[in-house]
Amino acid sequence: MSLSKDDARYLWHPFTQHGHPETAFLPILSAKGSFLYDEAGTPLLDLISSWWVTTHGHSHPELIKAMTTQAAKLDQVIFAGFTHEPAVTLGRALQSALGRRDVWKLFFSDNGSTAVEVALKMALHAQSNWGHPERKRFLAFEGGYHGDTVGAMSVGHSSGFFDPYQKLLFPVQTICYPETWWHDSDVLHKEEESLSILKQHLSSGEIAGIILEPLLQGASGMRMCRPTFVNHVVRLCQQAGALVIFDEVMTGFGRTGSLFAFHQLSETPDILCLAKGLTGGMMPMSLTCASEHVFDAFLSTDFYRSLIHGHSFTANPIACAVANRSLALFQEEDTLKKIAALENVHRRALTALENDGLAHRPRVLGSVAAFDVTHECMPYNTEKNHWLKSLFLKSGFVLRPLGGTLYLMPPYCTSLNDLEEAYGRIAKILQQVRP
Ligand SMILES: Cc1ncc(COP(=O)(O)O)c(C=O)c1O
Repeated sequence: MSLSKDDARYLWHPFTQHGHPETAFLPILSAKGSFLYDEAGTPLLDLISSWWVTTHGHSHPELIKAMTTQAAKLDQVIFAGFTHEPAVTLGRALQSALGRRDVWKLFFSDNGSTAVEVALKMALHAQSNWGHPERKRFLAFEGGYHGDTVGAMSVGHSSGFFDPYQKLLFPVQTICYPETWWHDSDVLHKEEESLSILKQHLSSGEIAGIILEPLLQGASGMRMCRPTFVNHVVRLCQQAGALVIFDEVMTGFGRTGSLFAFHQLSETPDILCLAKGLTGGMMPMSLTCASEHVFDAFLSTDFYRSLIHGHSFTANPIACAVANRSLALFQEEDTLKKIAALENVHRRALTALENDGLAHRPRVLGSVAAFDVTHECMPYNTEKNHWLKSLFLKSGFVLRPLGGTLYLMPPYCTSLNDLEEAYGRIAKILQQVRP
């Protein structure tokens, strides 16, 4: 049986032009720690944590144990009218992990996009239950990515990806994003401009909520902004009666150096979306976490004032059990310390690449490092992009540039030696392709 042949015959992959003559899918047979293994047993260092989901490492024995034990006990039960121990334990454990509020109310779904979809419905419906039906519009940041469902696409930046679906989307007002990097001297000016646009939109009194990826926009090129700016945004919105939704689908569970990105801020969102690293990257599950204030807006004897949303696999017990074990591992394995060590390697390596003229606009936050390969803006899916990806694969690691941005987001178990070695090989490749 040829996996590649039957894949080409039967399967349809995400974000893929199957008509491209060079489209091919590398069969991966197994994974362990920070490595994937192909059919020949060749190890590939997973420098993108398999689409930003893997945290403690692939096939972590403790997560496998949690998964199999739970599967043998209770695999699935409808979550409307029923509850179970793994979900309640997760609810309890996340209270102290999230902190800042007496209670966070957790609403389950299956992926990052649906966590965002729920957040949007929650914000709109809460405003209406509070007697503010005029608050029906959302604000978002240019370059923000929140997923592929219709609401998530509406509040997201498309890069052209959403153009074919434009007729399905609702209008959203966007604010320019004051991205910054090492030695950026213009950040104050960019922040002032964003805040002034934000104030104008808020003054309409029609804003239900704002959605943003705190500190780090992922898909638009690992674009970072300053904590003081985000604090300012949160304060202005909350003072104006708009709900603040943080999309921590990517930034959650350690990526930015703290367990959640909002832990680096003084302000707290009203609604928080989590997915990807929630189960350590092993099971698809997501959460929309609401403040008690938002939850209370739905309390009534009238069914139509409740949050009318749900999925077949809501709070799947196996996924909850894996999420519980994954959360505990952060303490048991002193994970934030490992992330700090990875961050140090990133900083040293990016300094060297910058000194050699191979990295522009370097930026690092926790386990994430990014830089632009060229000064010019490079679109997605160019031949150069595909070529770079294949050179990286041949060199033994998985890296997928976002346009002209190269980023590294390794699983937290990645050895410092492996990461340093990968940077050495990246430097050689970049020297080779230097214009
Ligand atoms: C910030 C952010 N929000 C939402 C999503 C969508 O998550 P999913 O792909 O699980 O639907 C992503 C995916 O990359 C993301 O980075």
